[in-house]
Amino acid sequence: MSAVCIEFKPGLEGIPATQSSISYVDGQQGILEYRGTNIEELAKKSSFLETAYLLIWGNLPSKEELDSFQEDIRYHRRIKYRIRDMMKCFPETGHPMDALQASAAALGLFYSRRALDNPEYIRFAVVRLLAKIPTMVAAFQLMRKGNDPVQPRDDLDYAANFLYMLNEKEPDPLAAKVFDVCLTLHAEHTINASTFSAMVTASTLTDPYAVIASAVGTLAGPLHGGANEDVITMLSEIGSVENVRPYLEKCLETKAKIMGFGHRVYKVKDPRAIILQEIAVELFEKFGYDKYYEIALEMEKAVEEKLGHRGIYPNVDFYSGLVYRKLGIPSDLFTPVFAIARVAGWLAHWKEQLAANRIFRPTQIYTGEHNVYYTPIQER
Ligand code: SDX
Repeated sequence: MSAVCIEFKPGLEGIPATQSSISYVDGQQGILEYRGTNIEELAKKSSFLETAYLLIWGNLPSKEELDSFQEDIRYHRRIKYRIRDMMKCFPETGHPMDALQASAAALGLFYSRRALDNPEYIRFAVVRLLAKIPTMVAAFQLMRKGNDPVQPRDDLDYAANFLYMLNEKEPDPLAAKVFDVCLTLHAEHTINASTFSAMVTASTLTDPYAVIASAVGTLAGPLHGGANEDVITMLSEIGSVENVRPYLEKCLETKAKIMGFGHRVYKVKDPRAIILQEIAVELFEKFGYDKYYEIALEMEKAVEEKLGHRGIYPNVDFYSGLVYRKLGIPSDLFTPVFAIARVAGWLAHWKEQLAANRIFRPTQIYTGEHNVYYTPIQER
């Protein structure tokens, strides 16, 4: 075979890893579409579960299909007592993303592994993961405070039930509605690192619970989903509007990444950041102002002055933390909340990968040596 010129691109930048019809991003125009519908329209008119259905099954559900999907999700929200007992052994100082990854993998212990050619098995896996992930995130939150988790409430919708399980009280209707929109905004984003991780894991035909556990572990990193928690830490470290520019100067001098800014694809402000910023302001009007917001606005302005010419603008993680703070969500739960939403996208890509599967096995450009003599230990 003739030597093919294979160019190595760090991080596979710009290299297609699949063909997909699930979502589309135009990084220059700041466009995000799920199955061809733009995110602004879905945020305004749809719900997270309807959007999850669209992403996973490829079409908007009829009223009967949506009612049945929502009923299935309600029925499967509870988690096995053995998983609750396992979670009670987790250290309360552990990070909630590690707790989520462990409990997501544990789900696989209860359901058969190798029925991927059975549409009913696929449907149940989709329902169980969408239904149980929020319950596990909320359960760990109560357990690490030394309390028993509360059971899901069938009379509450998806978003309201999560906030209820987390805070042990029914949320304000506006808070529930806003949270549902946040889940829609975070549901899917083409071949990001955690989705790619899910695809690679899926391509070996392992069970969907292992696929989601792989993706959760990948999302946890600060360069990916973990940035939303670090943005709040950054805003708190900055502490005042006056300190924004000195803080930014120090980041630039030390070449430190500024959390919540930049994106491999978007070279303009992330369309999700625009919507999340609007949501934050709506919450401030109802529930009171957050002084971090004026620091964030100043940071956005200062970063645009210094790095805008390089296409570095706010991404989805920059304003999401301000919204979640107003909803009473602790900052180390911001990334688990991101994971709750992204389960929809991960499952959509899991199904799409199975439909035309080939195990991922890229090549490499070898840079090591050959025929190296084995030096006996006494000679080293
Ligand atoms: C998400 O991929 C997705 O779709 C992800 C996501 C999704 O929905 O799944 O959108 C969610 O992960 C959002 C990103 C959250 N992460 C952060 O906010 C962390 C801070 N951001 C950076 O780490 C960075 O912007 C990345 C990792 C998000 C993207 O980086 P790139 O552009 O792929 O890779 P890079 O780090 O090589 O950056 C290119 C240049 C570098 O300069 P040079 O070394 O070439 O001189 O841009 C600079 C970087 O230093 N740069 C930044 C920066 N982001 C890029 N410099 C300072 N601060 C930043 N935030």
